[in-house]
Amino acid sequence: MSYTDISEIVLHGDKYAGTKVKVAGWVRTARDSKTMAFIALNDGTSLKHLQLVMDKSVLDADALSPCLKSGASVEAEGVVVPAAREGSGYELNVEEIALIGDCPSDYPLQKKRHTLEFLRTIPHLRVRTNIFNAMLRVRSKVSYALHRFFQERGYTYVHTPIITGSDCEGAGEIFRVTTNGYEDARVAKDEAEYIARDFFRRKAGLTVSGQLEGEVAAMAMGKIYTFGPTFRAENSNTPRHAAEFWQIEPEVAFAKLPDIIKVAESMIKFVINAVLEECPDEVDFFEKVCEPGLRAKLESVVASDFAVLDYTDAIELLKKADEKFAYPVEWGLDLQTEHERYLTEKVLGKPVFVTNYPKKIKSFYMKQNPDGRTVAATDLLVPGVGEIIGCSEREADYDKLLQAMTERGMNLDDYKGYMELRKYGSVPHSGFGLGLERILMYVTGIGNIRDVQLYSRTAGDLMA
Ligand code: 4AD
Ligand code: MG
Repeated sequence: MSYTDISEIVLHGDKYAGTKVKVAGWVRTARDSKTMAFIALNDGTSLKHLQLVMDKSVLDADALSPCLKSGASVEAEGVVVPAAREGSGYELNVEEIALIGDCPSDYPLQKKRHTLEFLRTIPHLRVRTNIFNAMLRVRSKVSYALHRFFQERGYTYVHTPIITGSDCEGAGEIFRVTTNGYEDARVAKDEAEYIARDFFRRKAGLTVSGQLEGEVAAMAMGKIYTFGPTFRAENSNTPRHAAEFWQIEPEVAFAKLPDIIKVAESMIKFVINAVLEECPDEVDFFEKVCEPGLRAKLESVVASDFAVLDYTDAIELLKKADEKFAYPVEWGLDLQTEHERYLTEKVLGKPVFVTNYPKKIKSFYMKQNPDGRTVAATDLLVPGVGEIIGCSEREADYDKLLQAMTERGMNLDDYKGYMELRKYGSVPHSGFGLGLERILMYVTGIGNIRDVQLYSRTAGDLMA
């Protein structure tokens, strides 16, 4: 007999009632009394545990007793029955139970609830807690929903390189990729020689964004998306920045800024709908432990239109704000998280696209507006998190792009192909990047990016 997923029994118990099944999993908690014993068993397929009910008069005591320990792995065979306590679903009347892997009493995840900070010190075990069980399932469902959204709309999924020779965001936050070591640095007489000794014979790094190569693909395939890991050596210790994070980046030929804003809004709604429909237990759980009102928030986001606010108007609102900000507010300066959160939480109370930022604070590739000082770019800000999407129409004019790159002192040789896209059949096009971890923080209410990844990588901490 093969094992039955616990999710099958807890979610579709009526189908199994009265039948014999075999399950395997890890003991979350065990209770022992004179005549009966109980185990809450979890195999990772659902947030809910399966209650194993053991009548000690019929089970072999030697087989049973080592199974009654938190963390142990066991297999059990028995009959599915309605739970003794009404409304508690179904449980298993165990006829046979066996230990698979013992778990000694120094197992760190004993009954009491642990802080997320403590759990970060045991990433190999924190996955066995309810919060990580729920987070990983939501992460998986969100990822699948994102694929569905784009696949169902005719986008081609392309895999852009992880190792690149260009800096898409131009922020100098690239992790170098090199096979050179201490010895190469010691013997090379200058930087040119040092680089000549290296694997690629030129500077290489981990990608900060798949956009530049995504644009290449979009100029042939029309509508594409990338979905993969991106890397930034941002030396900032915030709850929202990770050195390794996942981005979903669609790129659409012939689309202008208002067109891509529509794609972004319907994508976010699609994903939130999927979470509400496919992860109801997880949403209830996060509502209880992370963010009161979470379900109502998610439902209202799906039902309402996102706001659109011009950067210049945003600055006016911030200047008039009845609030002390740590960072200055001035036209031409970037919005800080405190400003973003004020706008989306206090002023609008819903997601907002802030549009038309000053060109000086944005990337070289963004389409320059006719006013000469702003670009056709937008960030999507959401309550509780701040920016979750960076978006823009791309500069499709060769000369304007060249000028923006020259002004920034960029090395044009590194971007030859990218620039040629503006020479051979250039078209208006737009795209955006959604940070997967950021939207996960938004839909779960988990407040720190370190807790929405299996392993997190942040400055000074390569979790292991
Ligand atoms: O706004 P960003 O820098 O935009 C780009 O990289 C564009 N090339 C995307 C595009 O147009 N194809 O980053 C996009 C998103 C941010 O809005 C944020 O959600 C996330 O990526 N992000 C991070 N998430 C976690 N940790 C970090 N250090 C992040 N930096 C950006
Ligand atoms: Mg951004």
